Amino acid sequence: MEINKVTKEQSDFSVKINYGLEGAYFTESKICKVDGVNGKLYYRGYSIEELASHSNFEEVSFLLLNGKLPRKDELEEFSANLKKERELPKEIVHIIKNITKKEDPMHILRTAVSALSAYDPEADVNTKEANMRKSIRLISKMASITAAIGRFKTEKEYIAPDNSLGHSANFLYMLHGNKPSEKEIKIFDRMLLLHAEHSSNASTFSVLVTGSTLSDIYSAITSGIGTLKGPLHGEADENALRMLYEIKSPDNAERYINDALSGKQRIMGFGHRVYKTYDPRARVIRETLEEIKSSSPEVKNLVDISFKIETMMIEKLGRSHGIWPNVDFFSGPVYTYLGVPIELFTPVFAVSRVSGWCSHLLEYWENNRLIRPLDYYTGELDLKYPK
Ligand code: CMC
Repeated sequence: MEINKVTKEQSDFSVKINYGLEGAYFTESKICKVDGVNGKLYYRGYSIEELASHSNFEEVSFLLLNGKLPRKDELEEFSANLKKERELPKEIVHIIKNITKKEDPMHILRTAVSALSAYDPEADVNTKEANMRKSIRLISKMASITAAIGRFKTEKEYIAPDNSLGHSANFLYMLHGNKPSEKEIKIFDRMLLLHAEHSSNASTFSVLVTGSTLSDIYSAITSGIGTLKGPLHGEADENALRMLYEIKSPDNAERYINDALSGKQRIMGFGHRVYKTYDPRARVIRETLEEIKSSSPEVKNLVDISFKIETMMIEKLGRSHGIWPNVDFFSGPVYTYLGVPIELFTPVFAVSRVSGWCSHLLEYWENNRLIRPLDYYTGELDLKYPK
């Protein structure tokens, strides 16, 4: 389509369309810097490598929401508030249980989060303080909801939270019914930390679009969950692991990838709208694969297939086309090691990303402007109604 030709009636200026808003800036933010050229990621100025080595998900959530690392007492208070909010209203547990058989986990998560507003006395209080409290509620309760979905999906009973445990350990406990090891907690917590924030990606943007109408935080986060669900966004990690299972063994990887690429298929877990180099989060997760690869024959096989595909894809499409592993490629073997079932990968992504979503919404509301872009009308005008 020739987009620079504009009729006088439509506009006086020449139109440049950024399909998919690619390369378009719509706001300023102090939360996250994604440097797609150099493969760097910063949360509030701290590099992802620095945070992955020294911090944890709770501290990072505080950092994202408040713009600074917490003092010891601030972190204790934040963690205590997360604990206070863990239990789910029994009606929410019923909703999850009742729709579990019929629905995909992301539909259940979206429905349950939307329903949470009915049990929040501050649901429509739009002050900064109330929105901060609701953010903490959402971070805490989305983990409980996701664990409950995991329980009901496998026809097990809901497990109440254990307040002697931190956020990540409690999630694994509510999912599995037993206390995780220190190694499992550390690895799961690092996964949450790595997925917590990524500037104005599709789901965060959708949270802001809803928020910019001065709707409420539950509506905004519900929009984000719906957007995250897509296979081009959050669901790619599930599909990447399904691909590894389909390939079955490292010996089949070469033929599979060659066939897929010659059939113009996309390889899930590769490519990114912003990173045209190795995604720094994928690098950290790749190191985790080294830590877990001898844990079981299944995990070892998945790791070996992943490494084979990684080498092939970098040779074929990395340097030449800027298509490198993204955060979703190596996640599957890690979640398999942790016993997180495949259909919970995207809800777990949401359990983490909710910190980023809320942080952006709170920041955007400081200086709200209705988000309302234009589309360039190319249809007909002044048609006569058929008589
Ligand atoms: N495998 C093979 N080819 C690819 C891939 C891939 N994973 N990704 C992009 N390409 C090709 C694409 O076919 C196109 O080729 P051509 O120009 O010949 O038609 C070219 O690269 C440009 O693709 P695009 O769709 O215009 O690029 P984009 O910036 O819109 O794509 C993307 C970004 C993430 C949608 C895409 O890379 C993709 O579909 N990846 C697979 C899904 C995936 O892993 N998503 C997770 C993204 S990271 C986590 C998150 O943010 O949620």
